Amino acid sequence: MSSRPILIGIIGGTGSGKSTVARAIFQSLPEKNIAIIQQDSYYKDQSHLTFEERTKTNYDHPLAFDATLLKQHLSELLNNNSIQKPIYDFEQHTRKKETETIYPKDIIILEGIMILDDSELRKMLDIKIFVDTDADVRIIRRILRDMRERGRTLESVIDQYLTTVRPAHLQFVEPNKKYADVIIPEGGYNQVAIDIMVAKIKSIIENKQKLNSNRVKNN
Ligand code: ADP
Ligand code: C5P
Ligand code: MG
Repeated sequence: MSSRPILIGIIGGTGSGKSTVARAIFQSLPEKNIAIIQQDSYYKDQSHLTFEERTKTNYDHPLAFDATLLKQHLSELLNNNSIQKPIYDFEQHTRKKETETIYPKDIIILEGIMILDDSELRKMLDIKIFVDTDADVRIIRRILRDMRERGRTLESVIDQYLTTVRPAHLQFVEPNKKYADVIIPEGGYNQVAIDIMVAKIKSIIENKQKLNSNRVKNN
């Protein structure tokens, strides 16, 4: 592989279905020439704080993320170099000690609530997708997911939603819809939208492969 990978951004409110859409695209591509990076993996390390202190952090603010490390890692992947991606623990509200090696691929998907809020990050993205799901559906999905998978109580999810998640959505997520190239309604099980994205990605990969084989022939 020699040419620059294509970076696709998937943004949308919490519970909109970003992670599910990214996984569905990955599963539909037979060659797996694709890497998924979650902005969530780049929440700041808080291992120096007590658990009690970590529960008080506002996780719905751009400053909650280590944007420098995320942009550095994306640049590495775009230069066809591997990275050691942090692994985030939602139950402990901090990074795990281990990291995951991510190898460069032709397609990199970056998904997260605030990836369009950062103008430098926005400029790095070749294709921007906004997953658009109504707020009532998103909160229901989030309650179920956070209680099942992120070790939360109903009260804590509702309290967090009203104090930080909802205001941040209106300030940092929804206004950035205007930057999107494509809007996918309802998220993860919108098979038509996923098929269209998969067809687009396959055609990008084919074109890159043709370009690379022409380069080899001409050398
Ligand atoms: P996000 O990453 O945007 O917060 P997720 O992909 O984690 O959202 O989806 C939140 C929850 O909603 C998950 O439990 C997921 O299985 C579920 N979900 C995602 N898309 C749909 C959909 N179209 N219909 C029903 N449930 C969905
Ligand atoms: O997958 P999703 O987009 O929902 O992930 C982002 C959400 O994760 C944010 O809305 C934030 O409130 C939540 N979060 C959390 N606890 C953490 C880190 C993030 O509830 N420790
Ligand atoms: Mg997610």
